Amino acid sequence: MEPFFSRVRSLALMSMSLISVCTLSDCYDPLDPNGNITVTFDINQWTRDGYEARVTIQNYYHYRHVDKSGWKLGWTWANNEIIWTMSGAFATTQGNCSSFKFDTPHSCEKSPVIADLTPDALPENRTADCCHGGILAAWAIDPSMSFSSFEMMVGHLGANPNVQAPLNLTLMAPGPGYTCGLVADTDPTISSDIGGRRQLQAYRTWKSTCTYSSFVANQAPVCCVSLSTFYNSKITSCPTCSCGCREAEESTGSCIREGYPAPQSDSLDSDDIVLCTDHMCPVTVHWHVMKNYVTHWKVKLTVSNYNYRRNYSNWNVLAQHPGFSQNATAFSFNSTMLPSFGFSDEVALFWGIDYYNNDLLNADKDQLGAVSTQILLKKDSNSFTLKNGWALPRRIYFNGENCQMPLPDTFPMLPNGSSNLKPAHTLLLFLIYLTFKTVVTRL
Ligand SMILES: *[C@@H]1O[C@H](CO)[C@@H](O)[C@H](O)[C@H]1NC(C)=O
Ligand SMILES: *[C@@H]1O[C@H](CO)[C@@H](O)[C@H](O)[C@H]1NC(C)=O
Ligand SMILES: *[C@@H]1O[C@H](CO)[C@@H](O)[C@H](O)[C@H]1NC(C)=O
Ligand SMILES: *[C@@H]1O[C@H](CO)[C@@H](O)[C@H](O)[C@H]1NC(C)=O
Ligand SMILES: *[C@@H]1O[C@H](CO)[C@@H](O)[C@H](O)[C@H]1NC(C)=O
Ligand SMILES: *[C@@H]1O[C@H](CO)[C@@H](O)[C@H](O)[C@H]1NC(C)=O
Ligand SMILES: *[C@@H]1O[C@H](CO)[C@@H](O)[C@H](O)[C@H]1NC(C)=O
Ligand SMILES: *[C@@H]1O[C@H](CO)[C@@H](O)[C@H](O)[C@H]1NC(C)=O
Repeated sequence: MEPFFSRVRSLALMSMSLISVCTLSDCYDPLDPNGNITVTFDINQWTRDGYEARVTIQNYYHYRHVDKSGWKLGWTWANNEIIWTMSGAFATTQGNCSSFKFDTPHSCEKSPVIADLTPDALPENRTADCCHGGILAAWAIDPSMSFSSFEMMVGHLGANPNVQAPLNLTLMAPGPGYTCGLVADTDPTISSDIGGRRQLQAYRTWKSTCTYSSFVANQAPVCCVSLSTFYNSKITSCPTCSCGCREAEESTGSCIREGYPAPQSDSLDSDDIVLCTDHMCPVTVHWHVMKNYVTHWKVKLTVSNYNYRRNYSNWNVLAQHPGFSQNATAFSFNSTMLPSFGFSDEVALFWGIDYYNNDLLNADKDQLGAVSTQILLKKDSNSFTLKNGWALPRRIYFNGENCQMPLPDTFPMLPNGSSNLKPAHTLLLFLIYLTFKTVVTRL
């Protein structure tokens, strides 16, 4: 192997073996306590030997999306059901249909696995709200793209009058990490007809909710936070070994030294390969306190991709900071405030602007992938201070994963004597604001 590879050992794997139970942050996210993916089976029609069902997968996670290569939904039939036809999705295997002499079922698997069609699917294979290549947007970012539906005709129930819900639902989205509850009877889904003047009711509705746990996903930490301020030249870098440690000995992953190109994909398996750093994270979020104005203050937020093998499309970053209780303007990202569920510190969600910076590109020999924005925050004169690291974030998430924060005792300190901390003039602020508005509208 080339000398520029140094071996790393995943800190996560080491700590996983030590901690055998879920910690709070692994199993439950206090910033999105109701987050889940709900799978609904609506039976809309009985057939000669079964039923027709419409299945909807709805992502209720505020800031966790289902990325390329998309969701895969599986279950086990309670009886001898088969799927005669399917539209809007497909079963990945047909299974053993040899006992069907005249008609060919779509799938005879006891435990079928369903995948989404791509947007270029033929009209005869489509159904309403289908065919997004398995991608589901986060609920807070684009509710209209946060769900996906398909239809299937289920048969071969024989003389069994008791239609039973599928068992053991599984969801890959796209990797592991989701655990689905029982598929249970609920109130039938109501839909509207004749322009909303008539209500239709499903014959029967089954639901299951699936929740994510990074512990179940066996997910190594993916990101860390670094900090800097205008009032101190000290840069607080990401905690060492945030996502793994750089080590010389034989181990699991690889990293590439700066200035070297990524190896050919076939020379190693397609695992992630990152730039060698002390933190070894594929993604870092840098929070720089830029300016202190009379009525506002400004932060520069930069998200960097150290991964040579991965573009993060439709990335999102969540930041928890008390300053977001006031109106905040992000110049180059889209943003929204999220409910803070009783926390005193407000939560803001940022994501890229389409066709501009919603792809966080992979690193290469010459540079990291990066997206950044300036954020203008209004001052609340009762709480605003530069003391004690107040202006620094409390918590940062990238794509729903909690980022490793530096310890407070390493934060950049306010120097003694504050002569250089007088707020800048408002006119200057206004000029900067206008410049950025122009830049953004020109894009
Ligand atoms: C799933 O999320 C929806 C929307 O937030 C919520 O109404 C529902 O109660 C959640 N389901 C469970 C089982 O938590
Ligand atoms: C397929 O199913 C038929 C009928 O149920 C059975 O006889 C046959 O052994 C099965 N074939 C395989 C390869 O399992
Ligand atoms: C699309 O529909 C055609 C005809 O109904 C069928 O033969 C084909 O297998 C379907 N393709 C997919 C991907 O479901
Ligand atoms: C469903 O899962 C449970 C527990 O994992 C298992 O005991 C049971 O056999 C499974 N049922 C079917 C029909 O696969
Ligand atoms: C990332 O996207 C760029 C531009 O679309 C493309 O050239 C590059 O090959 C992609 N990288 C990976 C690792 O997919
Ligand atoms: C926040 O500021 C923007 C632009 O200055 C304005 O359009 C919006 O109405 C403000 N929102 C609130 C809640 O004050
Ligand atoms: C910001 O997000 C909203 C909601 O997804 C969308 O309607 C709007 O077009 C986005 N704005 C930009 C500039 O991308
Ligand atoms: C600031 O003052 C504290 C005590 O008042 C002192 O310990 C510290 O060294 C001073 N720091 C600087 C940078 O002068």
